[in-house]
Amino acid sequence: MTKHERVAVVTGAASGIGRKISEEFLREGYKVVFSDFNKENLDKVISENREKGFECHGVICDVSKEEDVKNMIEEAVKQYGRLDVLVNNAGLQYVSLIENFPTDKFEKMLQIMITGAFTAIKYAFPIMKAQKYGRIINIGSINGVIGFAGKSAYNSAKHAILGLTKVAALEAADSGVTVNAMCPGYVDTPLVRGQFADLAKTRGITEEEVLEAVLYPFIPQKRLIDVQEIADYVLFLASEKAKGVTGQACLLDAGYTCQ
Ligand SMILES: NC(=O)c1ccc[n+]([C@@H]2O[C@H](COP(=O)([O-])OP(=O)(O)OC[C@H]3O[C@@H](n4cnc5c(N)ncnc54)[C@H](O)[C@@H]3O)[C@@H](O)[C@H]2O)c1
Repeated sequence: MTKHERVAVVTGAASGIGRKISEEFLREGYKVVFSDFNKENLDKVISENREKGFECHGVICDVSKEEDVKNMIEEAVKQYGRLDVLVNNAGLQYVSLIENFPTDKFEKMLQIMITGAFTAIKYAFPIMKAQKYGRIINIGSINGVIGFAGKSAYNSAKHAILGLTKVAALEAADSGVTVNAMCPGYVDTPLVRGQFADLAKTRGITEEEVLEAVLYPFIPQKRLIDVQEIADYVLFLASEKAKGVTGQACLLDAGYTCQ
């Protein structure tokens, strides 16, 4: 089967890393279902890509709602007849010390970043296993292998996704389906740069000094990762060449976790 017949579904595809991954799949010839709960951004991304002549489909889906996730998978199959790649990317950050962290916020973040991935795999598995082919890529983080003060929900979800990845990889190992976690370090996205103003204020430095003073001391390569690098790695994991890679936490972090 050629890439041109392959179908990919990406959650959280209306922004940042998810958008870039989805657009790289399009450029590689995949048919792509862009899924997100932000209708306005999703509509914009879909129309921009259709204007460029790409075949893509948008599905509004809040991954914390099982019915939405079920519908997203069904829509992909209805639209394109199969499902080859699922990227569980939707996520968000909230920073607070545990004693001040609202419990409902903690639960919601786990629902989005871990239960959402679980339900998507649950509905994708029967289709992929029947096809005897599938690639599932869960977007983890360096926060899945090391702790960060203030990020209890995010770290819990990103550690949990590695456990889910291993179990799912084992359950699909004899079906031609691989399951991996792609774990980025600091990626150059609006989400990361958006934190610079607060970081500068709390440390009494300028926004321009944040990279050198706050982040680079922890990043051996002294640079942010380009979103293209994440997309390239995900595209490799999604390819037929990567059939032997399964159950892995694939770190792309400019050396962050090797210290
Ligand atoms: N930016 C980084 O440096 C970085 C580093 C490591 C991991 N990650 C991970 O990459 C993924 C994407 O992050 P990003 O930086 O592109 O963020 P982003 O905010 O640019 O994009 C996240 C997307 O997820 C969507 N989303 C949020 N909650 C949702 C829900 N309940 N249902 C459906 N969609 C939902 C948002 O609408 C948005 O379009 C996340 O899982 C994040 O944890 C990011």
